[in-house]
Amino acid sequence: MKKIFSSEITPETIYNSRRSFIKKLGFSTGSLILSSSFFLNNSSQAEERNKLTTYKDITTYNNYYEFGTSKEDPSINSKNFTAEPWSIQIEGEVDKPITVSYETMVKDFPIQEKMYRLRCVEGWSMVIPWMGFSLSHLLKKVSIKNTAKFVEFESVYRPKEMIGQKSNILSWPYKEGLRLDEAMHPLTLMATGLYGKKLPNQNGAPLRLVVPWKYGFKSAKAIVKIKLVKKMPVSSWMKAISQEYGFYSNVNPKVSHPRWSQATERRIGDSIFSPRRPTELFNGYGEEVSSLYKGMDLQKYY
Ligand code: MTE
Repeated sequence: MKKIFSSEITPETIYNSRRSFIKKLGFSTGSLILSSSFFLNNSSQAEERNKLTTYKDITTYNNYYEFGTSKEDPSINSKNFTAEPWSIQIEGEVDKPITVSYETMVKDFPIQEKMYRLRCVEGWSMVIPWMGFSLSHLLKKVSIKNTAKFVEFESVYRPKEMIGQKSNILSWPYKEGLRLDEAMHPLTLMATGLYGKKLPNQNGAPLRLVVPWKYGFKSAKAIVKIKLVKKMPVSSWMKAISQEYGFYSNVNPKVSHPRWSQATERRIGDSIFSPRRPTELFNGYGEEVSSLYKGMDLQKYY
C-alpha cells in the first residue's frame, strides 16, 4: 500500500469544510463549480450520497490495466511513469488538426473543480473532486467538420513503462469513444487533477477523460490522441467482450451486465456492514443528460 503523507490528507479537510461552507450559504457559486444535481437536495441523505471518497481510496483502488489488473497494482507500478512532457494530437474529420501541449491546455482553458460520482461497471462507486476543463474547449480548437459524428480517444502506449501492456489482456493502446454530442456536453471533463493536486499517475496523469453518467471504463486515462470520426469507434472493451461492454455504457440500474445485476453498488469507503446503495439511471445525472438519449432503447443501445 502506498504511504499517504499528511500533505496529501490536508486537502480533504479543506475540501470538506469548503463544501459545508458553500452549503451553509445555500448556493454553489464561487471557485467551486459543482454539477447541478449536487445541491438539488439538501437532505442528509443527499449529503451522505455525495460524501467525498478519501484521497487514499481514490489513489490506491484503481482500474488501469496498463499497470496491472489488481486494484493496488496501478499505485505501485506507475511510480516511474513520466507524464511530462505531454501533448494531445487531434485529427480526423477536422479542418485544423493540431497537437496541443499540456501547458497550453492548462493555460488556455478555465480549470474548474467538479465533484462527480464515479460508477464502475464492476459495481463499486466513489465520489471524486476532480479538477479539469470541459473537453468542448479543446474540441472547439480544431474546426470540426459536419462529417464528424463520433470521437475516438487513445491512451498512451509505452510497454517499457507500463508492465500491463506486455500482456494482451486488452488490445493496446486502450481506446474509447463517445458520440460527438456526448463529447461536447459540459459535464464531459478532461481531468488534470484531483483534491486540488496534479493528477496522480495511477488516476491517468496528466490528462484523462471523465464522463460521469457512464460506467468508469469510458473515462480513458493518459490520453495522447483524439480522433473525430464518421463511424462509431470500437473501444478496447468492445473488442475484448462485445456482448458485455457496449458503446454507450450509460449507467443504468435496469440493464444488467450479463454476469451481474447493476441495480445496486458498493460505495468504496463504506463500512462492510453498510447496505449496497441503489444505482441511479445515468448515475444521477439524468437531468443534465437524458435529452441526449430521447427515444433511444437503452436496453438495445447498452
Ligand atoms: N483507462 C485506461 N487507459 N486503462 C484502463 O484500464 N480503466 C477504466 C478507466 N480508464 C482504464 C482506463 C476503468 S474500468 C475505470 S472504472 C476507471 O478508469 C477507473 O478510474 P480510477 O482508477 O481513477 O478510479
